Amino acid sequence: MKAFTRSIAALVAGSAFLQSCLAQSSNPTLFTDPNTGIRFNAWTVAPSRFSPGLTFGMALPEDALSTDATEFIGYLSCNSANNDGRGWCGISLGGYMPGNLLLLAYPQEDDVLTSFRFASKYTMPDLYTGNATLTQISSSINSTGFSLLFRCEGCLSWEQDGTTGNASTSASQLLLGWAQAEENPTDGACPDDLSLVKHEANSLWIAKFDRNATSSSYNSWAKLATNVVTGDCDGGGSNGTGTKPRWY
Ligand code: HEM
Repeated sequence: MKAFTRSIAALVAGSAFLQSCLAQSSNPTLFTDPNTGIRFNAWTVAPSRFSPGLTFGMALPEDALSTDATEFIGYLSCNSANNDGRGWCGISLGGYMPGNLLLLAYPQEDDVLTSFRFASKYTMPDLYTGNATLTQISSSINSTGFSLLFRCEGCLSWEQDGTTGNASTSASQLLLGWAQAEENPTDGACPDDLSLVKHEANSLWIAKFDRNATSSSYNSWAKLATNVVTGDCDGGGSNGTGTKPRWY
């Protein structure tokens, strides 16, 4: 199954036809976060009758296009289907849903919560048990959607139950996947406990990096990630450590 998935991924990577069918362009746009100045290579799924739309951005360490990075700074901004500030969206860091590190995000009261997941098949993904850490820089929720700026350490390679994979930044492009759903997870107060129904929309895209993907400012930007936002997992407060800057 893993070999099969890999050979499909290789096919996808070489397929101009499939690229033209994808929901978004492979070529990045430059997104600069107005509050922090962090510059991202970003890719947008435009709103359509299939999906409310989302933008995913990556900022990489200075040498990431020559030496595989182990971390990135991410920007995830997801529109809500019904202008109700609800839903969830997720990224597969290896493109396909099974066998790759999945990151899902959703609004929960005043927080955007996140959960690392891993699926061996096309069913509700399990908790990811490997070594990935997400620390938030800022988040925002309003009626049109929710956004998150975060540092993701250990997120560019993964291992679960003998299945390994990685996203090689030195290739100057990644195969990524996205998924989006209208309804919030159930039992989402603690991300470890949540359940999902299947997303209504999903696709793959080849995310090409340009010179704005990396920056000599990466290390100082990474230091802005101070908020460990765990959700309400032990009956205590909804935040971990740190204060929580807001965009609104
Ligand atoms: C109950 C939970 C889930 C179910 C039942 C589910 C099921 C499926 C199914 C059946 C597909 C195949 C395409 C299709 O039928 O439209 C798919 C695709 C996909 N899913 Fe999920 N999914 C779930 C959760 C997630 C999560 C949490 C993520 C990411 C955080 C995710 C990411 C993707 C991606 C990127 C694709 C497109 C690539 C591919 O086909 O492998 N899914 N999912």
